[in-house]
Amino acid sequence: MKNFVKWNFSYSTLQHVTQKWLPILGNNDMLLSPNKQQTRYRFIYPMDEDNFKAELEKVANVVEKGLKAQLADDNETSLAILQAMRYASLNGGKRLRPFLVHATANLFSSEQQLVDATALAIECIHCYSLVHDDLPAMDNDELRRGQPSLWKHQGEATAILAGDALQSLAFELITHNASLTNAMIRTELIKGLAIASGKSGMVGGQIRDLAAESAKEPAQFADVIMIHAQKTGALISFACEAGAIIGGAPPHERAALKLFGEKLGLAFQLKDDLLDEQGSASDLGKTPGKDAASGKATLVSALGQDKAQVFLDNLRDGALYALDPFGERAGMLRQVVSFVCERKN
Ligand code: IPE
Ligand code: IPE
Ligand code: MG
Ligand code: MG
Ligand code: MG
Repeated sequence: MKNFVKWNFSYSTLQHVTQKWLPILGNNDMLLSPNKQQTRYRFIYPMDEDNFKAELEKVANVVEKGLKAQLADDNETSLAILQAMRYASLNGGKRLRPFLVHATANLFSSEQQLVDATALAIECIHCYSLVHDDLPAMDNDELRRGQPSLWKHQGEATAILAGDALQSLAFELITHNASLTNAMIRTELIKGLAIASGKSGMVGGQIRDLAAESAKEPAQFADVIMIHAQKTGALISFACEAGAIIGGAPPHERAALKLFGEKLGLAFQLKDDLLDEQGSASDLGKTPGKDAASGKATLVSALGQDKAQVFLDNLRDGALYALDPFGERAGMLRQVVSFVCERKN
């Protein structure tokens, strides 16, 4: 059967998953069927890895250019805050979230200016989250993207303020535009970004992540899913949904992209946790082994490395499954799933 592959799913690690997590984990009946193997035949779409790499680089260049323009010296902004914001955002980074905005928006006919602004805004929130995540009061991490963390380089107060300013810039970017014809779309983007980054999104997940470090009982599978879905999944999922919002996607396609993003977001954090165990500082550009040393609640600590890898494979399949409604149109998004699950940093 050309173009079809036989996939064997094993769900033995997933006993803890309850009905409660279905909205996040998706319409995977197999998640509720422990110790069961299922065989499915899936259509395999052709992958063009070179094309994907070129597209990722293209988006990264647009992001860099946008950040440089936004953070250029001017006559009224303090040089200290500009320098700190540039240090925190123009220092490499995969630019995955902007890529997701572009790739999902490209499924529809989308206004490019708004795609660029939204992609940049989400990257600003992400960079702010990294700056604050590294602070001594949080993960106390001295290395980020292969350089001293911002707090280590310019002090904690400057790092806190640079994070704050990156967050404000994100919202300024989405609202600032010559045309107001699509005010409804902008409002939805602002609302979505606020929810994804706030108390029930990234910040909410970060506080759960910190609380779990000092909890008396080790975190259970379902607790870790909640932490990951909020601290990392919310923003990644919103990046995917944003493309649908900008492109005026029909509700079922928007929901499919949101679901795709939720699965991809969990896969992303799970891979991050595996890399923390397995990677080197030179590959990662951050300090390996930190999660175990600080007693973080991760899927690796909850399941062990082998089962965590099985779960990653399941999430990967689930993410691909969520793209099925888009058929061949979703080639770039299928590539990004492999990128997330196989990356070295
Ligand atoms: C790191 O995110 C923080 C997590 C959510 C795990 P990335 O791995 O996307 O970081 P950069 O932007 O590429 O440095
Ligand atoms: C961070 O998770 C998630 C954020 C919201 C920034 P981690 O603490 O695992 O990210 P790294 O490993 O420091 O990049
Ligand atoms: Mg952290
Ligand atoms: Mg960290
Ligand atoms: Mg990590």
